[in-house]
Amino acid sequence: MRASFRSWIRVTGLVSFVVSVAVSLVMAADASGGRERLRMDDGWRFAFGHPSDTKKDFGHATGYFAYITKTGFGDGPAAPVGKFDDSAWRTLDLPHDWAVEQPNVANGSHSHGYRAVGPGFPDVNVGWYRKTITIPKEDLGRRISLVFDGVFRASRVWVNGFYLGEEPSGYLGFRYDVSDYLNYGGENVIAVRCDVTMEEGWFYEGAGIYRHVWLEKTAPVHLVADGTTIVTDVDEAGAAKVQVWSEVAHALGKAEAAGMSVRYLVIDADGKSVAEAATEMQGVEAGETVELGSALAVTKPQLWSIETPVLYTLVAEVSAGGAVVDRVETKFGIRTVRFDPNEGFFLNGKHVKLKGTNNHQDHAGVGAAIPDALQDFRIKALKAMGSNVYRCSHNPPTPELLDACDRLGMLVIDETRLMGSNPLHLDAVERMIRRDRNHPSVIMWSLGNEEWAIEGNITGARITTTMQAFAKRLDPTRMMTVAISGGWGGISTVIEAMGVNYIRHGDTDKQHKEFPWQVILGTEETTTQATRGIYFDDKERGHMAPLEDGTSGGNVETGWKHYAARPYLAGVIYWTGFDYRGEPNPLKWPAVSSQFGILDTCGFPKDSFYYLKAWWTDEPVLHVFPHWNWPGKEGQEFDVRVHSNHEAVELLLNGKSLGKQDMPRNGHLAWKVAYAPGALEARGYRGGKVVETRTVETRGLAAKLVMTPDRTALTADNQDVSVITVSALDAQGRAVPVADNLVTFEITGGKIIGVGNGDPASHEADKASERKLFNGLAQVIVQTTYQAGPMVLKAKSEGLSGAMVEFTSSQAGAAAVARVK
Ligand code: GAL
Repeated sequence: MRASFRSWIRVTGLVSFVVSVAVSLVMAADASGGRERLRMDDGWRFAFGHPSDTKKDFGHATGYFAYITKTGFGDGPAAPVGKFDDSAWRTLDLPHDWAVEQPNVANGSHSHGYRAVGPGFPDVNVGWYRKTITIPKEDLGRRISLVFDGVFRASRVWVNGFYLGEEPSGYLGFRYDVSDYLNYGGENVIAVRCDVTMEEGWFYEGAGIYRHVWLEKTAPVHLVADGTTIVTDVDEAGAAKVQVWSEVAHALGKAEAAGMSVRYLVIDADGKSVAEAATEMQGVEAGETVELGSALAVTKPQLWSIETPVLYTLVAEVSAGGAVVDRVETKFGIRTVRFDPNEGFFLNGKHVKLKGTNNHQDHAGVGAAIPDALQDFRIKALKAMGSNVYRCSHNPPTPELLDACDRLGMLVIDETRLMGSNPLHLDAVERMIRRDRNHPSVIMWSLGNEEWAIEGNITGARITTTMQAFAKRLDPTRMMTVAISGGWGGISTVIEAMGVNYIRHGDTDKQHKEFPWQVILGTEETTTQATRGIYFDDKERGHMAPLEDGTSGGNVETGWKHYAARPYLAGVIYWTGFDYRGEPNPLKWPAVSSQFGILDTCGFPKDSFYYLKAWWTDEPVLHVFPHWNWPGKEGQEFDVRVHSNHEAVELLLNGKSLGKQDMPRNGHLAWKVAYAPGALEARGYRGGKVVETRTVETRGLAAKLVMTPDRTALTADNQDVSVITVSALDAQGRAVPVADNLVTFEITGGKIIGVGNGDPASHEADKASERKLFNGLAQVIVQTTYQAGPMVLKAKSEGLSGAMVEFTSSQAGAAAVARVK
């Protein structure tokens, strides 16, 4: 336990500002205590600058005195209001990813998906964003911050010509207190310059302000951002203790410091207050940050779990000088987590085998700029196959991804990548932990991934020891892992939870024997690499049949068999859940997306989805593949496979039995079948009886389009999206698995923000209103505007009858998030 946990109240040091103007402390006695958090995503101006050609960079930083020479000397787009004309720039709303707007080119970066951006494309590597906002006069005296959830990458920010700082990371959130630089009662211009000349990871990363931006206003006395810690524990009788610590930044004069207090309320999912506590402190000097805490008892808590992810809200209310000056609500869950070196993972005392996927934040149509509702769509798709853990490879994710995991019941391993024991590295660990520690979904911190220069040696062991001890001081309640590949013997000797990247690199049984205190889990394991719906290799077209032996060794089944058979292994996290742009290994151009996914870039399942669903869930599964449309291949022998969790399966071709086989646990079944058009029927048996049948038939030509939206009741907030599956049916109404028709879309009352089809070698535009079907499927993502009312999407394709979806877009819920216009 850290010292402050015991002492409850601690002075944590000087804050970086002292209020120099006379301020009214009683900001507001309203429900927010004077705090406002405004979304600032709309109406940014955007243009490309240049990394080295100052003319193309709008003459930025060419003044005799530059922005790092003299305060307030931002020039070019960084200049104050009225000194730079951005009226010809493009207007856009965030989140924005300009990489996904660039074409695919053969000389683009392989790891990043062959886009005409990044190394070698200087004309589109610097992006400038500008936004002009009005700050009311009455805000004078409040603390006002610009909050960026993440900008890719190397961002610099100015307000009114004042340089605020630089953030090299494309993944860490950051904030600037701008109170001292603002024009109160007038216009203010914010300028952001980011530069993607250098890549940060080895996968598609997007470009620009691809996460939300917020404007936060508080009273001078306020709860520090990310300064709240909530730790829950549940006793044997089922009662919960909720321990809370809050950092309060204190910028008052001495006299007013007396009588500061924090009141806590725990609100349950129905909005009922179930616990209350208050804590007080006196006489703290101005300019300090203090930490206060309380313990609250919730006698009959509803526990957060994968099946019932119940969330509570902690309300922290700060009073100073007799008035409420700040109020922050934090969602949290009441749950216990425990890892055991012999038995694996326990949630609320119950054993849970970790069944997971790694994922980058990248989706068809939108790239890295993933709207919040799409996060939900992706997490639900992973849950549908029984997956219960998501590793944020290889960086802290968008905050809304963690919110989705909290809400939907998905465990998370949160990761910071670059290993080292310098301020750069430790600061990244600290920012990740402080931002994400109250998410009940987060069960473990990952401090690195495959650091080949250090993982097998003493340097790696030393760095890990330092990082782990540092992280433990920040969060003594969670375990730390590092994902290790070939270099066992360095990091693997000191890390408390060894992350195994691919079992082919070492002997987990031996490791467990030699390090009996250590938890072991599979942080990466190979899937069956494959292109959805493809059963013959076609390198020219960038398509591959399922690989029996993937690039990292083995396949989805060999991996699961290893982990399922060993109780000491906490579980396995496959590489990857979704396909992502970049790393199309072992293929190259024209393939531009990876094919590791169990789902493709749209979230359409590949065959191994059903293998995992069969062994990861209790739902009946009977999946037969390949499809049965092979004109010209009559008489050719096919390897017909079945993924199922029934006891036995019988396969029939055109009514004739090809034999019944018992299903091996964690295995699959296969038959050699000479192709003849018609029907391939699988019958699943339990207790000797047929309990399920599935038929794969030879289908006719595409005759009709169908669109299936994930949701039709949307919020008119310019953010909400619906994800629509587009498929083609033959004249008999059966899905055509090989259809590749070009589909065009038209929308009224909303907008199309992206299209995709999961083809890892498609070079069609993501930002378009047309897309070809790929093996029978395409996806279109539509978004609301601020205009409530009906939204209608139509799809057309030559020679096919079209399809239509009607949505309702309503204001309900839209008011919940206030915004800066
Ligand atoms: C791993 C790495 C992943 C990804 C994968 C591709 O070594 O951690 O990020 O690159 O290989 O096989």
